[in-house]
Amino acid sequence: MAKMWAGRFKKEENKEVNDFNSSISFDGRMYESDITGSIAHATMLGHQGIISEDDSKLICETLADILADIKDGKLELDPEAEDIHMFVEAELTKRIGEVGKRLHTSRSRNDQVALDIRIELRKDIIEIKGLIQNLINSILNLAEKNKETIMPGYTHLQRAQPITYANYLLAYAYMLKRDISRLDDTYKRMNYSPLGACALAGTTYDINREMVAKSLGFDGIVMNSLDSVSDRDSVVELANDIALCMMHLSRFSEEIILHCSWEFKFIELDDAYSTGSSIMPQKKNPDIAELVRGKTGRCYGDLIALLTMLKGLPLAYNKDMQEDKEAIFDAVDTIKQCLKIFAPMIDTITVNKENMRRAAAKGFINATDLADYLVKKGMAFRDAYKISGSIVGYCIEKNTILEDLSLDIYKTYSDKFENDLYEYINLETCTFKRTSMGASGVKSVEAQIKDLRG
Ligand code: ARG
Repeated sequence: MAKMWAGRFKKEENKEVNDFNSSISFDGRMYESDITGSIAHATMLGHQGIISEDDSKLICETLADILADIKDGKLELDPEAEDIHMFVEAELTKRIGEVGKRLHTSRSRNDQVALDIRIELRKDIIEIKGLIQNLINSILNLAEKNKETIMPGYTHLQRAQPITYANYLLAYAYMLKRDISRLDDTYKRMNYSPLGACALAGTTYDINREMVAKSLGFDGIVMNSLDSVSDRDSVVELANDIALCMMHLSRFSEEIILHCSWEFKFIELDDAYSTGSSIMPQKKNPDIAELVRGKTGRCYGDLIALLTMLKGLPLAYNKDMQEDKEAIFDAVDTIKQCLKIFAPMIDTITVNKENMRRAAAKGFINATDLADYLVKKGMAFRDAYKISGSIVGYCIEKNTILEDLSLDIYKTYSDKFENDLYEYINLETCTFKRTSMGASGVKSVEAQIKDLRG
């Protein structure tokens, strides 16, 4: 195909150069955003009298036809085209001749692509937010069913204090809620139109940038013309939001993998969300969670690729920027894929409450409560902590647990110990009496669920 810019050139482009330069294989997906932007631009050109109203109308109608034809599969993207912008313009000119050539008045692909990526990513942000919300809902449903399920809580992956499975799950729900709010912030900053900056310097035509911005649902325009065409902050921000959310999914995945292991056996995933081994018949592997964990690395890579690509770029547009698309689309596609499979996987979790309870009963998980008991009886926490530690040491030596020591033995450590200590260090009491805001007790968990359902 002859190049739009062929006028200045004496030679045909080399085939390899053409392929190397071409971005249609990955920016073709922006066809709807591109056409929507072009319709807004052509409408403005007509309104401002830069092209005739008739031409403007014909361009807009034909662009709408092209959009419909691509959607219906009647028009295929030409892999030989340089990019989606060139393809649409060439198709327009093919259909309406001379008039089609007027569309690109007072516009450059530099501001066009900057516009397209924002329109495209706005849609992606909305979809990703919806998928995260679905996952939060799945977590909340599982939490509802496990408000009284006791499990060991860990620090350093050592049993620390008893918690409820609901409280554990809600931690992830809150992380994901922040991920949504981060996407909202990114959207807000992204939602300004760069169109009208043209190549980099603006234009001598009497354009109306605000009109275009408003008709495309933007909150305003990106003011500076050089900034308009060379800024990819919002692409980086979105990649960062995705990397962070994937990090949360990855940590959750890691724990799902652990919790499914024979060593824990706290939960089981449905067969449909697990795979077997080709050699070991006993195996049931949590591949989905492992893949999500693995794909997190890939999203980090996308973020780093973007930051590195932009580092040191002089103003204004540079072709390096074409590389933003593969990176951000890969991150967007990856997180969508992960979220789509994660929520139904969570829905299939069966909880092995007995195993969780049994694990929580080991490891002197109530030693803090034993110290708190002495504090309630008037002792300073540091002294109580020391005594509780000595008693744990004694139990380890005697191969027993705090619940099984006699009161006589307790009395040798402090005369503050009375019979009510057993009730105090009981696992259920330790878990459910923690009713401070955000804690594991049933009331605290219910308040969190209500907050999250908001
Ligand atoms: N395909 C290009 C990109 O994605 C479009 C902009 C091209 N601009 C230019 N001056 N060659 O960045």
